[in-house]
Amino acid sequence: MLLPPYQSASATQRSFELQPGDFAGRVIAVTGATGGLGTQLCHALATAGATVVMIARSEKRLDALYDALLAASAPTPVQVPLAQDKAAEADYAELSGLLASELGGLDALVHTAACSAAPMPLGDVSQADWARMFAVNVSAARLASLACLPLLRASSLASLVFLLDYKPNAYWGAYGVSKQALHALMSMLADETEGMRDGSGHPRLAVNGYDPGPMRTALRRKAFPGELENQSPQPSARLGPLLSLVARTDRQQTGSALYHD
Ligand SMILES: NC(=O)c1ccc[n+]([C@@H]2O[C@H](COP(=O)([O-])OP(=O)(O)OC[C@H]3O[C@@H](n4cnc5c(N)ncnc54)[C@H](OP(=O)(O)O)[C@@H]3O)[C@@H](O)[C@H]2O)c1
Repeated sequence: MLLPPYQSASATQRSFELQPGDFAGRVIAVTGATGGLGTQLCHALATAGATVVMIARSEKRLDALYDALLAASAPTPVQVPLAQDKAAEADYAELSGLLASELGGLDALVHTAACSAAPMPLGDVSQADWARMFAVNVSAARLASLACLPLLRASSLASLVFLLDYKPNAYWGAYGVSKQALHALMSMLADETEGMRDGSGHPRLAVNGYDPGPMRTALRRKAFPGELENQSPQPSARLGPLLSLVARTDRQQTGSALYHD
């Protein structure tokens, strides 16, 4: 099986916006919830009525996001403090148990968490950094997805989305290689689950990837410290295709890797 080639998000997906109530009653978990894209995503999901499960490593930043979502009259969000470079299978089993017992299930899981470093030649990447980036960018995404799979299987319209970065250019180091591994993980998981169909023949669980392109966030600043503030868009400008994948606007779409051009 070849990896699915990246396809440009359609104009409809790029301009997709949620309406209030679109996600009422749905439970959606976001890793990297306090990051640049993660924060914007949590706001968009919550204002559309979702109960957002915010997974992030800093309790202080989680508290601030919790307060901001409540101030926007969103359903009470759930905070899950988790350092994903250290988390093990048992932590994700606990997360899945909490989702089942406290929220009654899970409808979507979006992996935005990513660990990156300043660009450098592969020979300069320390083994410790290599291992940490693979732990967060690949292993944690695998463990969280597998732990949540039974809950997603029970949802009537489930979505699993991985944030990708499609160019493994020179000097992208462990981050660049790990994102290629994540692309493969997404594709294999989509293949392994695509046989699960609903009564209308649509995949019960959609598994897709999305590369939002350059966005003005901490991750981008680390890679391009000299870039001016207005040289790359804010993450809010790149949400459309991601939200449309979570909302399953194309009920057949699974195993695809979209990018925002
Ligand atoms: N920005 C871009 O130009 C760009 C381009 C293509 C793809 N992407 C992808 O888009 C996604 C979102 O990136 P972003 O730009 O929003 O980056 P960001 O602002 O740096 O957010 C990354 C998030 O990952 C979290 N994280 C890092 N290490 C972690 C760990 N050990 N345990 C738990 N969480 C950890 C960070 O936590 P803290 O909040 O505690 O720092 C942060 O919330 C990423 O998957 C990235 O690869 C970004």
